[in-house]
Amino acid sequence: MNRRRFLQAGSSLALTALASSHLAFGADAEIVLSPDKAGDVINPNIYGHFIEHLGGVIYDGVWVGRNSPIPNIDGIRKQFVDDMKVIAAPNLRWPGGCFADGYHWRDGIGKARPRTYNFWQRRMPAGTHATETNQFGIHEFMHLCRLIGAEPYVAANVGSSTPAEFHDWVSYCNAPAGTLTLADERAKNGDAQPFNIQYWGVGNESWGCGGMMRPEEYAQKYRQFVTQLPNYKEPFLVATGPRGHSADEDIGWTTGFFEGMRGSDPPNGFSIHFYTDLRPTPLKAADFNVPEWYEVLLRGVRIDRVITDHWQEMGKFDSKRRTKLVVDEWGVWYKPGEELTPSYILSQPITMRDAVHTGLTFDIFNRHADKIAMANVAQTVNCIHSLFLAHGDKFVRTPVYHVFDMYRVHMGAKQVPVSNPVAELNVPVLAGQGRLPGLSASASMRDRRLAVTMTNPSAESTLKTRLRISGGGRPTEARGTVLTHSDMRAGNTFSHPEEVKPSALTSTVVADGIEVVLPKNSVAVIECMLA
Ligand code: AHR
Repeated sequence: MNRRRFLQAGSSLALTALASSHLAFGADAEIVLSPDKAGDVINPNIYGHFIEHLGGVIYDGVWVGRNSPIPNIDGIRKQFVDDMKVIAAPNLRWPGGCFADGYHWRDGIGKARPRTYNFWQRRMPAGTHATETNQFGIHEFMHLCRLIGAEPYVAANVGSSTPAEFHDWVSYCNAPAGTLTLADERAKNGDAQPFNIQYWGVGNESWGCGGMMRPEEYAQKYRQFVTQLPNYKEPFLVATGPRGHSADEDIGWTTGFFEGMRGSDPPNGFSIHFYTDLRPTPLKAADFNVPEWYEVLLRGVRIDRVITDHWQEMGKFDSKRRTKLVVDEWGVWYKPGEELTPSYILSQPITMRDAVHTGLTFDIFNRHADKIAMANVAQTVNCIHSLFLAHGDKFVRTPVYHVFDMYRVHMGAKQVPVSNPVAELNVPVLAGQGRLPGLSASASMRDRRLAVTMTNPSAESTLKTRLRISGGGRPTEARGTVLTHSDMRAGNTFSHPEEVKPSALTSTVVADGIEVVLPKNSVAVIECMLA
């Protein structure tokens, strides 16, 4: 089906471009890239991760134990490490989530580790239990980060702890051995070298499981927790931000927090949580129809507005922009009922719909490169929007994993402006109709290499797309990769681990651009050199 959606858009720029050059290809869509105007660096940390002591995330997902027959490195699942290295995972957030505000770090060090209460055990199905064994603590976490080459991002307990416990944890992690008693204790426990942790979350969801605080109460706590912080390593401190997926975006939290911080040093990062939250709907993760496909994507792209609105609100208090956004939980969250196994609460099947949602989200993050310092998918394995599903000796990469792999070209590259006049799609959703971007795209430049990622969110139509390069650059050596499937419900399972996988995407280099046909429900990346 040849949708001339771009012509329907009535853009004179678009009409001129089509008329002048590419009638033969018959493009449905044209985007214009301006590599000569490459600007902000896309922080690699935007492609970050999150693992929590919850269901099957840490225990089994990451940690299989030193005596396990499953291939492991000192107890850490080897396949997890290998695959995270492939996608150059830049960081790992840990130990929660809601778990963090009940966690006491001393329980996870030394030889004799206590069994303790885990926030999530109250949500476990009858007949299962989730007592925290504390086998995976700060030393194991740091070992994992080092194996992957990822920066640690540690969430401290504010909801049920004290500034002193936080400060001691920072000293334990970062003070050189031979200085503090705490540093010597760390060395005795196996790590003579300081961990040098830079990224610290000061609580998590302090408006909810992290303490049910009002924003001004949290601002006061925040100041108490950070004022005397030992600074062996200059910290990047992240304050708890809003529940961005609330109907009103929770702007009041942002206003209240920054009001409460007047006269104090602002945090380096301000967290936003944004779940595409389908829990209140009947939607299922693995089985859905076309309106349900679009419903998820439409709710997902709302994050664009949420980022803009909170950034604008922050600007009222922080004209120098000393605080950046940290989207440290994002993903599609379906209602319970499709778990990998009952005790792996919050695990869910992952399909092409979630992969396309990921592409749309990453394009939005890239376009907001000036605002976002970090983002963390919730969560990397066996939970919500996962890259991996693991159970015993079974392990599979989901379609979301492949999108992370395709987008890593942007990490640390300079963001390239994309003019995208492609008309919106009018799509059926749960209640009537909605409007979704007809094509999503973002681009970056590293040396002379241009990378363009694109998502065709249509469940029905291919999209003949022309990428026009303005400013005189001539593309050479283009190569492309696409992730798609004839069945929009397709995903990877333990029995069919390669059902959804990337394949080569044919593209044609023309004088001032590249032509490519994007299949329906697809995510694609094109890389080329500019002469
Ligand atoms: O990611 C699952 C949970 O979602 C986290 O623990 C919490 O921060 C959020 O509500």
